Amino acid sequence: STSLKNAYNGDFYIGTALDINQIEEKDPKVTNFIAKEFNAITAENIMKSMFVHPEKDKFDFETSDKFVAFGKKHKMFIHGHTLIWHSQLPKWLSEINDSAEMNAALENHITTIVKKYKGQVDSWDVVNEAVNDDGTLRQSVFLKTLGEDFIAKSFQLAAAADPKVELYYNDYSMTNPAKRSGVIRMVKKIQEKGIKIDGIGMQGHWHLNRPTIEEIEKSIIEYSNLGVKVSITELDVSVLPSPYGLQGAEVSQRFENNEKMNPYPKTLPDSMQVKLAQRYNDIFKLFLKHKDKISRVTFWGVNDTQSWLNDFPIKGRTDYPLLFDANLQPKKAYYQVLSLKEKD
Ligand code: G3I
Repeated sequence: STSLKNAYNGDFYIGTALDINQIEEKDPKVTNFIAKEFNAITAENIMKSMFVHPEKDKFDFETSDKFVAFGKKHKMFIHGHTLIWHSQLPKWLSEINDSAEMNAALENHITTIVKKYKGQVDSWDVVNEAVNDDGTLRQSVFLKTLGEDFIAKSFQLAAAADPKVELYYNDYSMTNPAKRSGVIRMVKKIQEKGIKIDGIGMQGHWHLNRPTIEEIEKSIIEYSNLGVKVSITELDVSVLPSPYGLQGAEVSQRFENNEKMNPYPKTLPDSMQVKLAQRYNDIFKLFLKHKDKISRVTFWGVNDTQSWLNDFPIKGRTDYPLLFDANLQPKKAYYQVLSLKEKD
């Protein structure tokens, strides 16, 4: 029978994020299921700096080795996430406040990890989430110690460590016009220095009605016009109301009240299944229209149980953002995404 990866074979890779539970899964049925549906994997957490580089002079590749072995065993495209990010940092790195020390740390971190997986990892998120929604650069330990040069420098170090691996800039809210301009400015600066950047990752943490298909399309085209590949790197569609329209105090008040915003029962009602399927239909139709620009579409998790959106940003919420439900059963949205190719 068919599968996502077979249906979209020749268009773009169909990927999923894997965390430790998926890699160490004991039930071969689940592992076979992952291998049947997906031909690309991203490390959801296990290659982040706090895990692979816990102390200044100590790397720990035990779990990331298992992740890479999983991908090789199943002949998958392996994407590393992420070399330089302001979040999930080890304490030692988060506390650096001197530029010479940060330069040395950046070089050691990127060079060691990229060389370790040279010829095995196919692409890296070199820098993740460095741009604010208004297009300015995000305050981080890297910006504070090195200024904006940390971005180009990171790409330069990664390219030197493995000249063949694909190098990505990855971020969320990539359809927001102000942010898009900021990202484009940043990428052009890297290119003007003659430093290699191969791709842009649009994370794709989306909702039922936003961003609009037009906004997504405009962004795919504008990023592609930079002469780089575009990937959708962390796709999920939240069906729950988002508290992010709220401002400052209102948000913290909701957190304090621990408000339960989940209006749905344990499984998603039929009417909502239809809405989710329609949304995925529109999204994948657009991806197919621009398949010449898109190299990979990766879901942020195998099924709804794995999703980071559960309990986020408020505990007690269950979300239903992916194509497979808690029992690994395909949802209406799955069949919809497949049917686009049957008509193709
Ligand atoms: O490592 C601890 C573990 O020791 C502890 O027992 C456990 C108990 O909760 O927590 C573990 O840490 C968790 C970590 O994932 C590793 O599993 C954190 O609580 C949890 O908050 C963390 O969430 C991850 C999140 O990034 C952190 O920012 C999500 O799983 C992961 O899906 C999410 O992924 C990010 C991308 O990297 C970047 N783009 C946005 C995306 C969604 O936030």
